[in-house]
Amino acid sequence: MYDVITLGSNTIDAFVYTDKNESISIKTMVSEETYISYPLGSKLLINDLDFYTGGGGTNSSICLARMGLRVAYIGKLGNDGNGMMILDELKKENVDFLGEISSLPEEKTGYSVVLDSIEHNRTILSFRGANDTLDYSKINREKLKTKWFYLSTMMGKSFEALEYIASYANENKIRVIFNPNNSICEKGAAYLEKILKNTEIFILNSEEASLLTGKNDSGKNMAALKELGPKVVIITDGKKPINCIDYDNNHYVVHPLDIRVIEATGAGDSFASTFLAGLIKTKDIEFSLKLAIVNSHSVLKYKGAKNKLLTYDDAVKIAAESKIRIEKHKIS
Ligand SMILES: Nc1ncnc2c1ncn2[C@@H]1O[C@H](COP(=O)(O)OP(=O)(O)OP(=O)(O)O)[C@@H](O)[C@H]1O
Ligand SMILES: [Mg+2]
Repeated sequence: MYDVITLGSNTIDAFVYTDKNESISIKTMVSEETYISYPLGSKLLINDLDFYTGGGGTNSSICLARMGLRVAYIGKLGNDGNGMMILDELKKENVDFLGEISSLPEEKTGYSVVLDSIEHNRTILSFRGANDTLDYSKINREKLKTKWFYLSTMMGKSFEALEYIASYANENKIRVIFNPNNSICEKGAAYLEKILKNTEIFILNSEEASLLTGKNDSGKNMAALKELGPKVVIITDGKKPINCIDYDNNHYVVHPLDIRVIEATGAGDSFASTFLAGLIKTKDIEFSLKLAIVNSHSVLKYKGAKNKLLTYDDAVKIAAESKIRIEKHKIS
């Protein structure tokens, strides 16, 4: 019996560091956007290069396993060197692989090029590859023995696997947490209906919440998203306060600490999966929110989406000493 089975993407992330890029801002009447730019026709020597595994499915499964839970991961890998690297890492981190390895040589493992900018924000060039073709009929139902499913984003044909697992969970009384990304939220609330009606905990960022509700107010969006099925809704907003509404309609506003960010990939994944780990271990929402912030801060302080995911004991120690502020009131 697993505590959690996660579904979502896997990638190899190549982090490219160069001081040879410029940032360019383009202003229009309604917005201002910043771009990373490189001179055309030139060859640029880069300063450094790092490879790490990434993707919402593996980030969350490894986060949960480090927290001491029994975890498996469902996703699709290419039958290639990068796929084997991901399998090795899952094994090393005590995560069982229950997914599919592609039988098509041309179907490659997902890959992302993460371009660092002078402001240490980043642009990601993302190749989804095998991630988009998971065939849910190939998932071994005998192995779906778990207390929770953690669903993150799956696109293309693999989206059907998320819908399938959400209804399987409902039929088998398995609890569901859902942490979508921007691209899936762009498709709108109706597209996610089958998943949301079987979701117990829904965690997303403020931009994703606005895409689903058409509104910008996180306070109102929590209530609107709760109407779609989830019993707990958490809206994160980078360094700005987190809004959470729980089972009993308590509203929490949580203030992340002011930290120096080294590299932002994986913050959202570690936040959502650590919240779940906290809840599984203690059933305490306030404590789980604190624990989630502590682990996301640890990830923000290092390069790579899984560095440095904390163990449960270390996260508990840091949370006990931290000055994270939480306001709580009941919504009538
Ligand atoms: N600059 C920051 N300073 C402090 N904490 C941060 C910062 N950025 C993120 N966090 C922490 O990580 C949590 C999740 O971050 P965010 O809202 O950016 O999620 P996300 O957009 O889903 O991220 P991702 O792109 O990794 O999926 C925040 O609620 C906060 O606790
Ligand atoms: Mg996210």
